[in-house]
Amino acid sequence: MSICRLSLALLLLTPFLHAQTAKPTLHEALMAARADRAGEPGVAAAFQRLAVAHGTPLYVYDQAYIRGQVAALRAAFAPRFPKLRILYALKANTNPEVIGLLKAEGLGAEVVSQGEIETALRVGYAGPEIMFTSSSKGPGEIRRAIELGTVLNVDSMDELNQVRAEARRQKKQASISFRINPGVDPHTIHQINTGIAESKFGLHLQGGIAFKAYETALAMPEIRIAGAHCHIGSQITETEGYLLTARKMMGLLKDLKERLGIQLGFLDLGGGLGIPYQDGQVVMSPEELAKALAPVWKEGIAAAGYEPTLWLEPGRFFVGGSGFLVVRVNTIKETPVKTFVNVDAGFNTLMRPAMYQAYHRVRMIGKTQDPLLVDIAGDVCETGDILAAGRLLPRAHAGDLLVILDAGAYGFSMSSEYNARPLPAEVMVEGDTARVIRRRGSFPELFRSAEATPAARK
Ligand code: LLP
Repeated sequence: MSICRLSLALLLLTPFLHAQTAKPTLHEALMAARADRAGEPGVAAAFQRLAVAHGTPLYVYDQAYIRGQVAALRAAFAPRFPKLRILYALKANTNPEVIGLLKAEGLGAEVVSQGEIETALRVGYAGPEIMFTSSSKGPGEIRRAIELGTVLNVDSMDELNQVRAEARRQKKQASISFRINPGVDPHTIHQINTGIAESKFGLHLQGGIAFKAYETALAMPEIRIAGAHCHIGSQITETEGYLLTARKMMGLLKDLKERLGIQLGFLDLGGGLGIPYQDGQVVMSPEELAKALAPVWKEGIAAAGYEPTLWLEPGRFFVGGSGFLVVRVNTIKETPVKTFVNVDAGFNTLMRPAMYQAYHRVRMIGKTQDPLLVDIAGDVCETGDILAAGRLLPRAHAGDLLVILDAGAYGFSMSSEYNARPLPAEVMVEGDTARVIRRRGSFPELFRSAEATPAARK
């Protein structure tokens, strides 16, 4: 009888025992690393698999995570804003597979250069599905955008005149919005704070400059006014800046309707939704933002007498947390001041720590014991090439793996071949498979555009 009971108990427990000991899938291992369980043997085995198959440094993206972020944003905004269009800001991660995934999720494309336009087209976007924002567009970029019917987000009166002249040349009407500088400070890192009055971006609301731009454009038959745009910055963690901006933009909406009879197709409030980069960091959720924005929007459309489509264009929010940069330890060095863990990636691979003093969590793979205060140093020949400073991590040895979290946005897209290091590979994880979505750069590629020079011919 008691043996019977024991076997019954074991039978019932089996699924749980299995869950504890089962080999995690690659997706589960990535999520475990986020949850600070990178020391577990099963998790470590998954990272070893990735590193052995694809080498390091390696960018790994989790497909389910990206999908989850899209769903979260949509769930927060769609019920409150029936006229809604979400675009993806390609600059955060320009890998065609990543863009394709977001396109399949129904997102439009926000781009900043002809290169990004061409990337969007390659992924399958049609010209009119693309919004082109840049404060400094070249004549070739303007020409291409008008040919394609892309919405040009115009940033100055000089640009408006150039767009008009090109549209006339092409015998076409150019679709435009104006990028507005609302003069709002969303309290983020200075280099990515774009809506303040001293920033280089947009036509100022201040002094009626933006209003005047619309008035001027209205008189141009070559121009079709499609909407209004603003983007106050990136990595914004509180709702306040958005609310202030929305109020100001809704004021413009009303003025344009009342005084010029202009009815905008869309009002784009930009991207910028922040993500937590530190354990325990609390940032505004899409739900909080949508909830706070809804009454401001309602009031604004009531005052204007019509409802434009609300456009949003985040980048980081969709892809940031999906990305893991796997690096390998080259050497350890103890100096009289501190201990350096020298790894095989640097600011050529992930620029954010050196450029913005940005914090990225680092997890040691497969180890939990013997904590030591270290700096994770990159392999670029510059003192500033520190990927993470003053971290307490299990003692590392040459050959160990580390993973840097939240590297999916502005990671690979800001990487370079500085110090003649080929670009890293990128893989996309789906369940337990990892698909190469950009192969590792090679040494011949370092000379690809210099082959015709006299030195190369020698
Ligand atoms: N729209 C416009 C017009 C933008 O300039 C940007 C980003 C975005 C949308 C997307 O912003 P997001 O949702 O990703 O915050 N390299 C910096 C971030 C620069 C952002 C530039 N503009 C970083 O690594 O933090």
